[in-house]
Amino acid sequence: MSSSSDNPFVRFTAFWWALGVFMLFGVILLAIKLFSGSGDRPNPLEEAAAAKRYETRAAVEAAQKAAFAYKEVEKGKVVQVPPHDVFPLVGQGLLAEKPVAVAKPEQIVPGSDRQLAAANEPKVDVAAVDALTPAADAPIDPALLEAGKAQFMGGGTCFVCHGPTGEGGPIGPTLAGSEWVTGPVSNLIRIQLRGLEGPIQLKGATYTPPAPMAALAHQTDEQIAAVLTYIRNSFGNKASAVLPEQVKMLRSEVGKPMLKEADLIKP
Ligand code: HEC
Repeated sequence: MSSSSDNPFVRFTAFWWALGVFMLFGVILLAIKLFSGSGDRPNPLEEAAAAKRYETRAAVEAAQKAAFAYKEVEKGKVVQVPPHDVFPLVGQGLLAEKPVAVAKPEQIVPGSDRQLAAANEPKVDVAAVDALTPAADAPIDPALLEAGKAQFMGGGTCFVCHGPTGEGGPIGPTLAGSEWVTGPVSNLIRIQLRGLEGPIQLKGATYTPPAPMAALAHQTDEQIAAVLTYIRNSFGNKASAVLPEQVKMLRSEVGKPMLKEADLIKP
């Protein structure tokens, strides 16, 4: 007896069955594709992922725009910068920056150029500066006091921390009756040029500031002389004027770390 596959009728039927099953798979796949949502219908997962992507991209672009697109090319002149101009500008900004003072002596590498330079740095001659201080009873030009007051309330913004009448404020200690204010002029100039941090003995008590006084070295020699003359002759204080030459002599102090009480001459 021959096997059934040799039977032409069986072969014929098997062929059509196979074709039918094959087609059925095709139809099922098509149905799955049509009704599973991958056609025109939105896929909620993909939608969510896309929304997140667009959100991130918008945030990145906004941040870049804020950081780069507008630059102050010179004081008071802000321009929009094409992207390819940004890097030279950032570079120029970095180059124009003064080298930041080493905040702590421990940060200076032993034997480095910085350390050698520090060792060779001429010590400021505070005695020579204080020797120039005019007599305490020498008359003071009222215009100088006016300029000093303007600086105190304006460009120097001293009043913000020390109070408009120098009685002390939320951050700064009192200037009224302070032995530092009426003491050696070199102290006062150096505080302006370098800032002051840490506790300080003042009127018989220890004042511990909530924040240090930052250097205000952007002021001109004349402005510093005027504002210091003003605080030395206001709020009940009486002391000599301060000369712009004295400020000029101490300009090399700019950029050095903040002063502490121990760096000053005891008043
Ligand atoms: C950001 C706040 C702030 C500003 C602005 C500020 N100071 Fe001070 N000033 C302080 C603090 C804080 C101290 C005390 C720092 C310390 O003891 O470490 C201080 C200390 C002083 C002292 C010595 C201590 C005393 O009370 O006698 C003088 C003098 C002084 N400032 C003058 C000025 C003058 C002048 C200006 C404006 C040109 C000015 N300050 C602007 C916060 C400020």
